[in-house]
Amino acid sequence: MKTTPKDLGLKPMIIYESIVSTLKPDKTPHAAPIGFTLLDDHTIRLRPYKRTITYKNLRRERQGVINIVSEAYLFFETTFPKLVSEKSHSFEPSVKILTPRLAGADAYIEFEVSEINEIDELCEVYCAPLNVVVGCLRPKAITRAETALLEATIHATRIRVFMRMGSIQKAEELLQRILYYKSLVERVAPESKYASALDKLIKYAEELLNRQ
Ligand SMILES: Cc1cc2nc3c(=O)[nH]c(=O)nc-3n(C[C@H](O)[C@H](O)[C@H](O)COP(=O)(O)O)c2cc1C
Repeated sequence: MKTTPKDLGLKPMIIYESIVSTLKPDKTPHAAPIGFTLLDDHTIRLRPYKRTITYKNLRRERQGVINIVSEAYLFFETTFPKLVSEKSHSFEPSVKILTPRLAGADAYIEFEVSEINEIDELCEVYCAPLNVVVGCLRPKAITRAETALLEATIHATRIRVFMRMGSIQKAEELLQRILYYKSLVERVAPESKYASALDKLIKYAEELLNRQ
């Protein structure tokens, strides 16, 4: 029987985080973190910003892969590729579409785009699952270092937006939150890749704030 998104344990109307792979104009893969929501077993909604490479790729190619990964470091790495000297991810061919999937993902959903709504800067992209696959699952213990890195990565993406809007105080507040997550990671995972990722995010955020 065909695997469906619900078989992955996904519940409707919850925003889950994933890394979406798409095809660039030269047909090489691009990967970026994007939240997704299951509306029903035949429809998944993504909400990428219009300015993102991911959105432009989805609009042009009308296909992509939702890669479900439980390693928070991958979210940091794909959001800020320039802060990472050696990438830990690679791609593998998909089954039903040309867009490659992330190698080693816990599960993945190959999809085609069925409808797009452009709402201001944010867009709604409706996706029809074509192939749902559960990868090789290894047990994975939760560490607070990963949730801290995930939150800090999202905050770091918003600092630039606030700086552009002239909301320096809000940008400063985000830096303070990132510094808090750094102190948490220092307690639970000192000298880990999570700690070094936090250092890079702090440097990135401080440079943005010093440029004002
Ligand atoms: C956990 C997480 C979830 C994210 N979710 C979204 C999202 O739903 N939509 C979006 O436009 N950007 C989202 N972002 C930010 C983008 O991944 C980030 O801005 C990315 O660098 C831009 O995508 P691009 O490489 O396709 O231009 C998220 C980032 C993180 C860390």
